[in-house]
Amino acid sequence: MPEPIESGATWRPDPERWPRFHISRHPAVLHKLAILRDEDTEPKKFREVVRELSWLLGYEALADVSTKPIAIRTPIEPMEADELAVRIGLVPILRAGLGMVDAMLELMPTAEVWHLGLFRDERTLRPVEYYNKLPDSATVDLSLILDPMLATGGSATAAIEVLKRWGAARIKLVNLIAAPEGVDAVTKAHPDVEMHCAALDRQLNERGYIMPGLGDAGDRQFGTAH
Ligand code: PRP
Ligand code: URA
Repeated sequence: MPEPIESGATWRPDPERWPRFHISRHPAVLHKLAILRDEDTEPKKFREVVRELSWLLGYEALADVSTKPIAIRTPIEPMEADELAVRIGLVPILRAGLGMVDAMLELMPTAEVWHLGLFRDERTLRPVEYYNKLPDSATVDLSLILDPMLATGGSATAAIEVLKRWGAARIKLVNLIAAPEGVDAVTKAHPDVEMHCAALDRQLNERGYIMPGLGDAGDRQFGTAH
């Protein structure tokens, strides 16, 4: 069992244990996380906050991508401005990752979106693939996997394997809440993959749910938590 980890505004991940794990410490992110986690937050508000957090995390995840010069004219004079130089693919993991797509497309309007359907078997906690809409070959320079929750890391690891087999060049994983078990699993299986996250929680419970977490991200978005 991993050591419990305090989340909060000052905690920093150990770069030796998780060299590619990035956690946002932005006050707006922390504030929105509290709303998302609250069990009284209704699906409508929950979806709104998933979208807002996705925007903020997407902004951070894109901070190191390259740009290229583009000639434009302002109303005053011509100038050399910048445009994104990388082709980006968004890979939302169904169902819960769907809620992150719109915000990411606002940030990256030319991104392509490929859906990947994975659900966690409740008994074994292993991912089961049920839908794959990837084109025949990789067409982008950077793939962003979108999923609000990184718990055991089984779904993320499976998604990364699918993308690598398909020929993806560079992969980043964007999650809202991660458990240490999941960060360990992805770091071990795919040390090249960057992880961007809004919060790192304490640990998983015996049913594989993140503590304190937010419950089931898919159910809370789509009103199916009964
Ligand atoms: C959730 C979540 C991740 C997965 C994380 O999906 O959205 O995909 O669990 O758990 P893991 O790290 O242990 O694999 P779920 O299987 O509940 O499917 P859903 O999105 O359809 O609700
Ligand atoms: N999937 C979720 O939606 N929530 C968890 O806490 C773990 C996996």
